[in-house]
This record gives sequence, structure tokens and C-alpha cells, in this order.
Amino acid sequence: MSSNSTLSVDNKAVELPVMEGTIGPSVIDISKLYAQTGMFTYDPGFTSTAATEAKITYIDGDKGILLYRGYPIDQLAEHGDFLETCYLLLYGELPTAAQKADFDYRVTRHTMVHDQMNRLFTGFRRDAHPMAIMVACVGALSAFYHDSTDISDPHQRMIASMRMIAKMPTLAAMAYKYSIGQPFVYPQNDLDYTSNFLRMCFAVPAEEYKVNPVLARALDRIFILHADHEQNASTSTVRLAGSSGANPFACIAAGIACLWGPAHGGANEAALKMLEEIGTPDRIPEYIAKAKDKNDPFRLMGFGHRVYKNYDPRARIMQKTTHEVLNELGIKDDPLLDVAMELEQIALKDEYFIEKKLYPNIDFYSGITLKAMGFPTSMFTVLFALARTVGWIAQWSEMIEDPSQRIGRPRQLYTGAPQRPYILEARRG
Ligand code: SDX
Repeated sequence: MSSNSTLSVDNKAVELPVMEGTIGPSVIDISKLYAQTGMFTYDPGFTSTAATEAKITYIDGDKGILLYRGYPIDQLAEHGDFLETCYLLLYGELPTAAQKADFDYRVTRHTMVHDQMNRLFTGFRRDAHPMAIMVACVGALSAFYHDSTDISDPHQRMIASMRMIAKMPTLAAMAYKYSIGQPFVYPQNDLDYTSNFLRMCFAVPAEEYKVNPVLARALDRIFILHADHEQNASTSTVRLAGSSGANPFACIAAGIACLWGPAHGGANEAALKMLEEIGTPDRIPEYIAKAKDKNDPFRLMGFGHRVYKNYDPRARIMQKTTHEVLNELGIKDDPLLDVAMELEQIALKDEYFIEKKLYPNIDFYSGITLKAMGFPTSMFTVLFALARTVGWIAQWSEMIEDPSQRIGRPRQLYTGAPQRPYILEARRG
């Protein structure tokens, strides 16, 4: 159902259609505004802008609700596994047992990468940031898999999607192994997705590696929590890159590059470094004061969110998973967890954070869990990218399959120099 809104511009009434979604805010369709008024809208951070219609993920920031294809995140995290969530995000429905088995089989058989990619790694310094390696290697997939880069062919799009989801764990594990000077471990088809990833990261040729099922389940749940999140910065990057017709591997590489930023997916690495810098609970007030000081660029990493003005539902599940993992590993009192929980308690009672509706987000607790599992901080955002790949692919597919899809090309408010004549160098001051 739609209605109209009226905008008055220079005393001229402009009728703009209002479109309603299934749930959530309606939108005012301004696509004809420039033609009717000669004016653009202005919304630099896209705080009030819906860039697309979508059916994949819904967030209610005030109520702290996150739905994947209508299913609440806590129910998916509790009852399903990551590949079930991948199937749901890609195809829109939960799979039957037969569909799930077929999907698992297809993903599993795309986990190996072209062996020449091993040589690509040797060009990097061993201390290269793994996210730099991921941006490079994911983009380079389009140099190996020419049979799945034609985006006009639905079959090639499906193969590219399977390859992306299947190969991210392999590339992520290779980036980790390369950074610690250990040999790459090939995927093993008789392991589930997340167990395979843990083995590729932590197995060594010198001995058998036994996957800890509690840790595998916890990491699989962490992947579910990170799988998609509406039109966040990296997803919007993937959609914009895809709108030009770029191949899916290049689009995902662009998403990884955007996710790397500390304001976005890089916050999990930054949050853990912040907790380590604070060190002990008695230093928390000093950092809370820094976070509140307008003249200090310091922010509490893992706190705040553009959409959530309530507790990030993923952060609650993340916190529970953190305790589960620390218990399984016999870590009774993790000083970082002590600092994190004390910091959360103090911040949530502080007027500044209450007034600005700043709550812990998914990145606040994830680092503690991943560090306890044995991952270095430099790998935290790589794991975020691994999990978010299915969300990027699902959103990219939705955009490509939209018959009204056009290249994204925003405009601007120009405040630069007016037109002026060229000045010969001899006459410049
Ligand atoms: C992710 O978009 C997504 O969905 C992202 C994500 C996903 O799944 O894809 O959820 C993943 O990126 C989570 C967010 C991870 N980032 C961090 O934890 C970094 C710390 N947080 C902030 O940088 C910030 O909260 C953002 C970037 C997350 C949100 O920024 P906004 O929406 O642009 O908010 P803002 O910067 O305008 O802040 C509003 C006010 C400001 O104060 P005033 O200028 O109004 O006085 O709140 C303050 C900010 O200074 N503020 C903080 C703060 N976050 C915001 N003050 C202290 N510490 C913070 N963390």
C-alpha cells in the first residue's frame, strides 16, 4: 500500500509517493525530486536514507531486534548451524533436511583454492596484516575462476556464490598460517564447515588435530551472528561495486576493504586492544572520561551503533558464548573479561552513554572469545569477513536479480571554486 507526501519547494507543492514495507519505517520515494525541483536531498552519513528495497535482513534499532528472512537471530543461533543460515539468507527459506545435506555437500566441495594461489601468498611479508592479504586474495579469485565471473548467467552467479562461501575459510586459514610461518593445511571433506576451518588454522603436520566440538559450536554460532546486517557500510560497498557489473569476487574484495575500518568490522580488533590498554578495572574511569571528552578522539570500541539505540541482540548472545568458551577452556578469571564486564556496567549507568543510547555492540565481546580460542587480534576482522561473506553475496544477488537495478551514482552539494579562467604559470603569484 502506498500514499503520497507533499513537499513545498519555492512555494510549489511537490507530490512524492510514500512506500510501505512489511515492517519498519515507510519511505518517501524521492527518485523524481531532482526532475521536479532541480534540487537533491542531502544526507552524507545516510542516516535517513533507504538506498534500496530488500527482503533479507530486518533490524529494529529501538527494540534491539535482528531478523534474517523474518527469523529472530537468537532462535537461529540456538537451533541451527552457520550453513543453515547461509542457505536461509541466500534462498529465503529454512532448508529441509535433504536441501541442507545437498547444500553442505556443494559448499564442502568448493573449499579448495587453485594451488597457484599458494604462490600469491609468498609475495607478502610474513607480518602483513591478514586483512590486506584477504583483500588481495579474494580479488585475485577472479583471476582463477573465469568460469564464474559472468554475472548475467544465473548458473555462474550460483557457482561464484558457492565458491566465495566455501573458500573464505580456506583463504583465512592460509592467511593465518602464513603469518606464523606454518605450512598450509588443506580442507578435509569429512568435517563440517567450522570444524574444517578450526583444523585448517590450528592443525600441524606433526600430529593429529582433534577439533573441540564445544569450540566449533561456539565459533559456528559466532559466524551466524555476523552473517548479515541490512545495509551496513561494507554491504553497501558490495552493492555499489556490484551495480557497475563488477564480478562477484571483486565486489566481495571491496566489502572486505570497507569492513577493515575500526568504525566497522575492525572494531573487534580495536576493542580488544582497548581492553588490553585499560588493563585493570581501576583504570576504567580514566578511559570513560576520555570517551566522553569532545576534544579527545578516543571512543569506546565495541560501543555504540548507527542503528541499535538499545542493546545489540548479537552482543547478548556473544557474551553468553564468551562465558561458554572460557569455561570450556578452563579460563576461570580472564582479566580482559573482568575489564569488559566492569566497563559495560559503568558505561551503562553513565549519563553520557544513556543519553546518547550507546550500548555494547557485537564487537565488544567477540575479541575476548576469539583470543581465548587462540586467534591473534589481527585475525578478528578476518573472521568477521569470513562470516559476512554470505550476507554480502545474498545482498549482491538480490541487487543483480532486481530488474530495476541501475548503477549507483549519488550526487553532491558542490561548495568548491566557481568556474574561473586558467592562469599561465608565469602569471601565478
Ligand atoms: C559494526 O552498521 C552496521 O550494522 C555495522 C555492524 C554490522 O554488523 O555490519 O553492526 C558492525 O560496525 C558495529 C560497530 C562497530 N564500531 C565500533 O564499535 C566503533 C565505536 N563506535 C562508534 O565509532 C560509533 O558508535 C559508530 C561508528 C558505531 C556509529 O557511529 P554514528 O552512528 O555515526 O554515531 P556518531 O558517531 O554520530 O555518534 C553519536 C554520538 C557522538 O557524540 P556527539 O557528537 O553527538 O556529541 O555518540 C558519540 C559520538 O561522539 N559516540 C561515542 C561512541 N559512539 C558514538 N562516544 C564514545 N564512544 C563511542 N563508542
